[in-house]
Amino acid sequence: MNSVAEKIRALLQQRKAILLVHNYQPPEIQDLADLCGDSLELSIRAAQTDAEVIVFCGVHFMAETASILSPGKTVLLPRHEAGCPMADMITAEALKHKIASMAPMPVVTYVNSTADVKALSTVCCTSANAVSVVESLDAEELLMTPDRNLARYTASRTGKKIHYWEGYCPIHERLTPEAVQLARDAHPEAVFMAHPECRPEILEIADVIASTSGMIRHAREADQRSFIVGTEVGLLYPLQKENPDKEFYPASDKMVCRDMKRIAPEDVLRCLETMEGEVKVPEEIRVPALRAVQRMIELSG
Ligand code: 13P
Ligand code: SF4
Repeated sequence: MNSVAEKIRALLQQRKAILLVHNYQPPEIQDLADLCGDSLELSIRAAQTDAEVIVFCGVHFMAETASILSPGKTVLLPRHEAGCPMADMITAEALKHKIASMAPMPVVTYVNSTADVKALSTVCCTSANAVSVVESLDAEELLMTPDRNLARYTASRTGKKIHYWEGYCPIHERLTPEAVQLARDAHPEAVFMAHPECRPEILEIADVIASTSGMIRHAREADQRSFIVGTEVGLLYPLQKENPDKEFYPASDKMVCRDMKRIAPEDVLRCLETMEGEVKVPEEIRVPALRAVQRMIELSG
């Protein structure tokens, strides 16, 4: 009898499918991946693959982004209820009202958003490229949605006037300076890495600010041997796997995203067997959303 992992690999081949996995997913899902990465890397791969089916192990907005980029492919999300509370903090209706109430200016939307919000935006960004996307715009004033923390961080790096939506990631918002201090007291030699979704007072005390894959790159290249990780705890797994001789500590063990933990290998197997769980963005939303996502990908080389 084949193991679940073996059955998944065989079905992926049979269906001409690729398995894309976010860095926060459970270890047993990461171990199955064709590509494990951050939101930017996964979007680029979704745009470039010649697979016929994309199985996305992440949350709903990630599968939507893959559908926006690859309308001819079948995009499957193994657990349909895996959402993102930050993406749900803004609606297209509310953004339309906001845009109507402001002077004309570009709208930069974090990929952690629904497709209909992307469709109203000038350009998208991820945590890996927000600063360069904003720098590339020929405008000194803009609106960023939905993450206020990423917006304030980007404003501090670019010097531009950034209006922002009052959204946030509840998991990163949970990290307090007191928790960081406790971790630093326990590991005084460690480098503190923080994700731009963290609050400004956390970013002020961080040694390194980076996306999830940016943290993996930093840990790989750094001479230092120990790190406090200021993001969702799932990232500890790839960090430790790639650097068995280095030490990684969570900045807080409260930083767990339940939505990122919903998918089990059995769910991946079931969706490959049944081809259920398709995420498809309707054309009238996909076309304008594609403009914003494509522009971001072009800017990111
Ligand atoms: P990155 O993959 O861009 O680091 O994003 C973190 C995140 O919260 C994804 O949901
Ligand atoms: Fe959304 Fe935060 Fe979970 Fe990422 S970690 S999916 S931003 S709630």
